[in-house]
Amino acid sequence: MKIDILTLFPKMFDGFLEESIIKRAITNNLVNINLINFRDFSKLSNHQVDDTPYGGGRGMVLRCEPIIDALESVKTNDSKVILLSPQGKTYNQKKAMELKNEKHLILICGHYEGFDERIRNFVDEEISVGDYVLTGGEIPAMILTDSIVRLIPNVIKEESYLYDSFMNNLLDYPTYTKPPVYRGLKVPDVLLSGHHENIKNWREEQALENTKKKRKDLLEKK
Ligand SMILES: C[S@@+](CC[C@H](N)C(=O)[O-])C[C@H]1O[C@@H](n2cnc3c(N)ncnc32)[C@H](O)[C@@H]1O
Repeated sequence: MKIDILTLFPKMFDGFLEESIIKRAITNNLVNINLINFRDFSKLSNHQVDDTPYGGGRGMVLRCEPIIDALESVKTNDSKVILLSPQGKTYNQKKAMELKNEKHLILICGHYEGFDERIRNFVDEEISVGDYVLTGGEIPAMILTDSIVRLIPNVIKEESYLYDSFMNNLLDYPTYTKPPVYRGLKVPDVLLSGHHENIKNWREEQALENTKKKRKDLLEKK
């Protein structure tokens, strides 16, 4: 998979792309991630990418030309273009599972007061990471990239995410590691029993209980 991220602040991605699972996926050529600064596509003498809103009012608005020129420099017939915006459809694991099958994602990060409305005519989807407003689309782009890349075959083992929270409209079951007792808190006996069938049943029950307790709404979708 290829992911092109259009941003004014590529340095924000430094740590994100250089650590842990995402770094390994890039090194192993399982994903190709490029940062494209759309300021480089501005034709204005000072490389300006924004301007004041028509009709007056607050903030600066991102202009169409640099963003669309940057977009068209990378777009192909295989591309899916996503605008990151608090006004988009709320992102979730189901959407991550759907997007992991795309060959090429282009993520457009806004900033300041947002985009010229006409940019919406050039995108396939508008996605929000939740009902709150961030200063820019860079963190949302990292959220989409991270959640999608870990689902690409061979990035992590399939069994590592198959029972993750939300995969089946359930939350994950509780997990424990050594020591068996910590400050009087014991690991459930079944997990120390070595009885695989009982452990499997216990985990299924616990996932259901956990979901009932914390996210009943998921069970209604199930
Ligand atoms: C300050 S926000 C602009 C918000 C805009 N005035 C509005 O109320 O819809 C600047 C940029 O950050 C990104 N952004 C902010 N919150 C977001 C969210 N919840 N999900 C996705 N992107 C978001 C978008 O790219 C947006 O264009």
